[in-house]
Amino acid sequence: MQTIWLIGFMGAGKTTVGQLLAERLGYQHTDFDYKIEAVANMTIESYFEKYGEAAFRQFEHETLRDFKETEYVVSTGGGIVLKPENRAVLKALSPVIYLKTAPEVFLKRLKTDERTVRPVVAKRSDEEIAAIFAARAAFYEECATFVVETNERTPAEIVADILAQLEMREGEGQ
Ligand code: S3P
Repeated sequence: MQTIWLIGFMGAGKTTVGQLLAERLGYQHTDFDYKIEAVANMTIESYFEKYGEAAFRQFEHETLRDFKETEYVVSTGGGIVLKPENRAVLKALSPVIYLKTAPEVFLKRLKTDERTVRPVVAKRSDEEIAAIFAARAAFYEECATFVVETNERTPAEIVADILAQLEMREGEGQ
């Protein structure tokens, strides 16, 4: 009945884990980046180039604000927690799962991910990217119903952990 929200930094595995989790639950899956790309009819990279980051953040905010579907797993973009109004929306939703990943792990993943160009990390050093994460880390924690560490675990292991936590919480009536 519910919708499950995945938050976390770029390279945390939100899309892969979200797809697998949705499959296991028989839910639909959506990724806000893909949704925005489909509506705007351009890549996130082109959107940033053409309209700038502030316009992207507004688009992302409206996508979150207007999403009312149930039985979905939603993979959000890593910057969704930047806007205070998004954090307020996320804090009122449940379950919001923070896929927590150490900098050395997401830095490695971001280098090998050929699927997408991320304008926020393009042309930035590892130290700069780690500093962006450090500035957001408390926001992810603040918005999360619970946290799942990803690091060296496979998507299947992460999904098994999420399902176990969801079941436990359901049993506790949360
Ligand atoms: C961003 C993360 C990206 C995408 C955009 C900005 C960010 O999503 O929304 O490039 O600021 O963290 P992913 O976390 O899915 O890569």
